[in-house]
Amino acid sequence: MHTLILEPHGPVLLIRLNRPEALNALNQQLMQDLAHTLIVADADDAIRCIVLTGSDKAFAAGADVKEMQNLTYAEVASADLYGPPASIIARIRKPIIAAVSGYCLGGGCELAMLCDFILASDTARFGQPEVNLGIIAGMGGSQRLTKLIGKSKSMEMHLTGRMMDATEAERAGLVSRIIPMADLVTEALKTAATIAAKSQLAIKAAKESVNRALETPLSEGLLFERRAFHACFATEDQKEGMQAFLEKRPARFSDK
Ligand code: HXC
Repeated sequence: MHTLILEPHGPVLLIRLNRPEALNALNQQLMQDLAHTLIVADADDAIRCIVLTGSDKAFAAGADVKEMQNLTYAEVASADLYGPPASIIARIRKPIIAAVSGYCLGGGCELAMLCDFILASDTARFGQPEVNLGIIAGMGGSQRLTKLIGKSKSMEMHLTGRMMDATEAERAGLVSRIIPMADLVTEALKTAATIAAKSQLAIKAAKESVNRALETPLSEGLLFERRAFHACFATEDQKEGMQAFLEKRPARFSDK
């Protein structure tokens, strides 16, 4: 698989997008490879958290314009261009952290938002510049960016195609933290290791519950969260986690 570089780091799988000749532009092969890799990782008990990154210069500069240029409406509509891999990535149950440096544009920004949270380097630049090409976002950008940063800023980004730097992206709520570029992947791996050390039952319940906030009305999300919270009391990890706290020692989670 030449579109991706896979690096296991204990329980964390680091996936590097690998099309440096095109600033990691997302062609269909890369998206298929990524979806396949994530399905395999999701089913692998040895992997507990995933980090997705690009290069220092670009997380991904968008969908591959050269590949799309001559496609017709009939071709993109019948293939549901970018729909299947995006749906697969959105359904991965293990946490995925996007570690973003450099350009994160168009489909690249949409891919980062398909992850569970974004750690950005101080050089990161985000944008939805599809309008400059006579198209619009097609992998969730108009929906997810609007939910994350609000209508006014999202609308401006989509209508003008301008880029946001890391500071603006953090202030707007797109990015959880900014990290110096040289430390980005190390810090993302450290964050992933922290997540990997928790009860995976609780981690899945937390991820599903937070995602409900974007996908359902508040009353449904609150009910989902409460039921998932109650279900945690059926686990051995809840007993161990609370006992360890009271005994002032680290918890030993068994994912049961
Ligand atoms: C294909 C791309 C590309 C892309 C860059 N390249 N972005 N190839 N698709 N999205 C290629 C360039 O053609 C060039 O190849 C090489 O990468 C280096 O890029 P340069 O432009 O020379 O680099 P630079 O001058 O530093 O400019 C960086 C840039 C610019 C500002 C990021 O490349 C740019 O504007 N890229 C396009 C951004 C964009 O419009 N993205 C949205 C795409 S549409 P050569 O062969 O010339 O060296 C989209 C739709 C999503 O994402 C909808 C569903 C997924």
